[in-house]
Amino acid sequence: MHKTHDKLKLGVLVSGSGSNLQAILDACATGTLDAQVSVVIANKPDAYGLERARAAGIPAYGLTPQNYADAVAFDTAVMYELLRHQVDYVVMAGYMRKVTSHILDGFPNRVLNIHPSMLPAFPGAHGLRDALAAGVTTTGVTVHFANEVFDEGPIIMQEAVAIRPDDTLESLAERVHAVEHVLYPKVLQLIAQGRVSVEDSTVIISPPLSSRAPTRDLTRQ
Ligand code: GAR
Repeated sequence: MHKTHDKLKLGVLVSGSGSNLQAILDACATGTLDAQVSVVIANKPDAYGLERARAAGIPAYGLTPQNYADAVAFDTAVMYELLRHQVDYVVMAGYMRKVTSHILDGFPNRVLNIHPSMLPAFPGAHGLRDALAAGVTTTGVTVHFANEVFDEGPIIMQEAVAIRPDDTLESLAERVHAVEHVLYPKVLQLIAQGRVSVEDSTVIISPPLSSRAPTRDLTRQ
């Protein structure tokens, strides 16, 4: 009997609206992303992203950091759900909290983050507001592997977004979100295809299998 391959299992961490989660769910549903969201966890029980997950029939948990002794205890609870749902990759999608080594060591080079700037520029919780305040004419979106510093770690892909002279926070956020909603599923699909690796903190993206030169079969003359 033909065995269908196991899909990449994603555990998505959110803190708010979860529009990036929605883009990932939609890409999984249409098949442009060969993966499945196995669990969604929020550090805010009222995060709208949890509603989006439940609407898609995905287990969703809102955990309250104040109920835990410290960040490691909180991440132990997050880790419990990630492992229980057999997650392959952890996907931070608007997760406004630093993950500790507890999660990073459990998923080495398997924790991703998206940030609304061309990192290392404008890290933090207000990347768009800070770019506007600085008066720069270009910002963008970064998808990267996470490390223990918030919004830091090996960069996988970036896309620039021009800032218009009449931009408000809302108009800029709209265009940046539109880029994010394409870029995150695109990077995740590269990961699903096994084309993303990290060597010495540098990300390597291999070409698709179909475009690789055939390897010579040395057993034949
Ligand atoms: C996104 O713009 C994401 O890049 C940003 O939060 C927003 C969440 O939107 N993340 C950070 O700023 C991380 N430092 P969403 O909840 O609608 O996906």
